[in-house]
Amino acid sequence: MQQIQNKVILITGGAGFIGSNLCDYLLRYNNKVVCLDNFSTGSRANIKDLLANPNFTLLEGDIRNLADCHNAARGVDYILHQAALGSIPRSINDPITTNEVNVSGFLNMLVAARDAKVKKMVYAASSSTYGDSESLPKEENVIGKPLSPYAITKYVNELYADVFHKTYGLNTIGLRYFNVFGRNQNPNGAYAAAIPKFVMQLMNHQSPVVNGDGTNSRDFTYIDNVIQMNVLALRTEDPAAMNTVYNTAFGDRTTLNDLITSLKRCLTIFDPKIANVEVVYGNTLVGDIPHSLASIEKARERLGYNPQYSLQEGLKDAVKWYWDNLEIRTEESINK
Ligand SMILES: NC(=O)c1ccc[n+]([C@@H]2O[C@H](COP(=O)([O-])OP(=O)(O)OC[C@H]3O[C@@H](n4cnc5c(N)ncnc54)[C@H](O)[C@@H]3O)[C@@H](O)[C@H]2O)c1
Repeated sequence: MQQIQNKVILITGGAGFIGSNLCDYLLRYNNKVVCLDNFSTGSRANIKDLLANPNFTLLEGDIRNLADCHNAARGVDYILHQAALGSIPRSINDPITTNEVNVSGFLNMLVAARDAKVKKMVYAASSSTYGDSESLPKEENVIGKPLSPYAITKYVNELYADVFHKTYGLNTIGLRYFNVFGRNQNPNGAYAAAIPKFVMQLMNHQSPVVNGDGTNSRDFTYIDNVIQMNVLALRTEDPAAMNTVYNTAFGDRTTLNDLITSLKRCLTIFDPKIANVEVVYGNTLVGDIPHSLASIEKARERLGYNPQYSLQEGLKDAVKWYWDNLEIRTEESINK
């Protein structure tokens, strides 16, 4: 894959799971990376190895503050906007804060990108935008009604990005991420994502709690596929590929029951007792959809996307990473 090199790139949410992986990757190709984060859900542990790199600048600030956004965007070539409050349950418990960060914060970043005349802003959109649409696989132009406050915020991002292109000529690309997993994803807290939460429970010999009967399915997407999409989105100069959104996924779906079986298989290499840990089934979640599967044809055709990691391949790396790092990181998050 052709790389992005020698550019100045602002990564908002750069201390989070996806953002820190993007920081790390882009620094390897001699880019200067500016990370804007308020550490609300991200962690210093995710970027501790980057702080000594002279090409890395950490700005502690909040995207709800326009001055912080202007300050961060000054002089950059590109923005990768990852900062947001994730989690559907969090948005149901606190829709106002989710809206302030995900909508007002997003708008601030668009204004800052416009004023700084950045070449392009690539932003984290979400598969939750498909809402109650039952069609499978999900194609970008067929969406339903949102099922949660979080889903609304992510759809509003797409609408704002489109209007900023039409009215101010700002170039954007939205990446609708599907259940991303991998190194640096936080397993702790009430709003942790399924894979890191299950890994932590299994490692502690606790029963993973599956919402529903385990037949719900997701298009689990390894972080390195997401990095590839971000690089391709940054690189493209084709007008037909810009100012639109792309599914960012592997293009296959796995039930939660099969996911747990795979996780147990990967983890028993390190601890055979994990094979005996039983699953517990709980209520289905409000705002949850039964099945999710992406069509990745648009990204293949317009950006040349070619995901390299299936769920199984990604899980091997992710599980090894959790095994090597979890104890340390659990302590760090407690002491944060
Ligand atoms: N992980 C997934 O499966 C997934 C799926 C769909 C969309 N997304 C989107 O991808 C992006 C990154 O998600 P992630 O999984 O890395 O989450 P994350 O919580 O690990 O990262 C988000 C980062 O944004 C920072 N942040 C939050 N509010 C901020 C604010 N007001 N100002 C500055 N920084 C702030 C957090 O501290 C954190 O470092 C988010 O926009 C999320 O909505 C993620």
